[in-house]
Amino acid sequence: MNASFLDHAFDLSFPEQLDPKSIAYLNGEFLALEEAKVSVLDRGFLFADGIYEVVPVYRRNPFLWKNHLRRLVRSLAAIQLACPLSEEDWTELVHQMIEHQPFDDQFIYLQITRGSARRDHAFPQKLRPTVFAMATEFHRPGQADRENGLKAITVDDERWLRCDIKSVALLANVLARQKAVEQGAHEAILIRDGVVTEGASSNIWLVVAGELLGHPRNNLALEGIRYGLIEELAKGCGLKLSLRERSPDDLARASEVLLSSATKELLAITSINQAPVAQGQPGPVFQKLRAAYDKAIEMQCPRAQLAKAASPTG
Ligand SMILES: Cc1ncc(COP(=O)(O)O)c(C=O)c1O
Repeated sequence: MNASFLDHAFDLSFPEQLDPKSIAYLNGEFLALEEAKVSVLDRGFLFADGIYEVVPVYRRNPFLWKNHLRRLVRSLAAIQLACPLSEEDWTELVHQMIEHQPFDDQFIYLQITRGSARRDHAFPQKLRPTVFAMATEFHRPGQADRENGLKAITVDDERWLRCDIKSVALLANVLARQKAVEQGAHEAILIRDGVVTEGASSNIWLVVAGELLGHPRNNLALEGIRYGLIEELAKGCGLKLSLRERSPDDLARASEVLLSSATKELLAITSINQAPVAQGQPGPVFQKLRAAYDKAIEMQCPRAQLAKAASPTG
């Protein structure tokens, strides 16, 4: 083997934004992220045979945790993977992960794969699933994003037909987002057979004739945890909301386009394919919902409790 081949083989560098010493969880053990290793035979690695969740944490309170837990259990059932922990244990794990981190606002990433086995598409019944969790600091969308909104492009939705499962098989989403970034945009809005389904990693909301429109709850989009929240907030703001298929025409005539996800919270999309959405500014529906979203965080995530010292055994 030549030297460059070996160099490549040992390139286990850490991206700058991640602290290799931050505390992760793998199969029953809290350990430094850099120590967390899984087998190359893990079916997550070989087949993307697994699911995940991303839970935002404000002031050390997991936001809408019960809903994330419900979706995690649903995703596991959808891929015939027996849930490896009880609901109480998931909750305890998330709380311990939060306590181990030095920052108050964070994301907890949870991933469960079917585990390691001889490579074969069909899976053995008695595998030990791989359960992994890590945390990263959450830098909430800042004033500039709130005031200017985000840029998006539209792309064909080339994903499979079970987009309702939060699967780690995200290649089509990855390529769509990459295309957006290469065109100087933040997000790709996916369109399948004349239907605007969702974003590469977000749900998309349109305001058409004063009404807020979301994609129906079905197999063509992931029901974001913000779905229920936005329904509740819209009601509280006196906004009419309908879940129905939206066409590219609806997108073109929308007076506002919004995006929601755990990491982006709720933001306006103010340009699509380099053309402004209406006046190119976040609109009144966004402003109302945004204020209500902030209030929901305030109410549900009171002051932080004291953090435990960050150590693998603490
Ligand atoms: C494809 C897709 N749709 C929607 C969402 C929004 O889901 P949530 O609000 O639960 O973050 C995400 C989040 O990552 C996503 O990847």
